[in-house]
Amino acid sequence: MSAAPAVPHHIAIVMDGNGRWATRRFLPRVAGHKQGVESLRRCVKACAARGVSVLTVFAFSSENWNRPVEEVSGLMDLMVVALGREVPRLTQDGVRLHFVGERSGLSEKIAAGLLQAEAATAHNSRLVVNVCFNYGGRWDIARAAAQLAARGEALTEANLDAAMALSHVPDPDLFIRTGGEQRLSNFLLWQSAYAELFFSDRLWPEFDEAALDEAIAAYQNRERRFGQTSAQVRAARPDQQAA
Ligand code: IPE
Ligand code: IPE
Ligand code: MG
Repeated sequence: MSAAPAVPHHIAIVMDGNGRWATRRFLPRVAGHKQGVESLRRCVKACAARGVSVLTVFAFSSENWNRPVEEVSGLMDLMVVALGREVPRLTQDGVRLHFVGERSGLSEKIAAGLLQAEAATAHNSRLVVNVCFNYGGRWDIARAAAQLAARGEALTEANLDAAMALSHVPDPDLFIRTGGEQRLSNFLLWQSAYAELFFSDRLWPEFDEAALDEAIAAYQNRERRFGQTSAQVRAARPDQQAA
């Protein structure tokens, strides 16, 4: 009997397509971001129900500051509203929140909100949700390197890994990007070295439970070799050994 395929331990998502979702409905782009928050709530619930341990989402990139001022300020306002509304629910649902990214560029109100949300959910352990906000993969790597240099530590892979913003969780197993584009856009450059990539044409507000299940099923059909041969991987599988 073969073992049931494993659910990915850590899923990372580039939540892309909010703007197009809104534009297609003749709505302002910020309406798409609002709908994106609804979609994230649904996704968090679905991940917890499926036994995923870590969900890391890209909410605002280092480069998104280049958008029109109204959109940037709309996104910042939305963060404040979403924190106020979602944190009590997440606390009850056993979700532990972490915010990952450069905080010095954020308003005091947002920075305080992020700290509060992290403190309020710190005792939870059902699902870790990392929200990457004002985050960039290059920022993460450069900051880790600068920290090691300042401490006079060697720039080894292990030291860099430990200094990186997601050092509290293992690397992502499944990297999903919605919205049809097939690029990383500076998300988790270091951590995704061996993630399985899945690109969905669905816009983020339309990424529902069925779409998540489709991504997980695709992941379960991949063979992760980590540099080995297929024969080596098959020989090491527990269900093969038992046969
Ligand atoms: C992703 O959706 C959310 C953020 C970048 C904040 P977009 O706003 O990039 O949506 P599209 O790609 O323009 O449709
Ligand atoms: C990536 O999406 C950032 C987030 C989803 C937060 P973008 O829409 O900013 O990416 P590009 O500009 O199309 O590469
Ligand atoms: Mg986009």
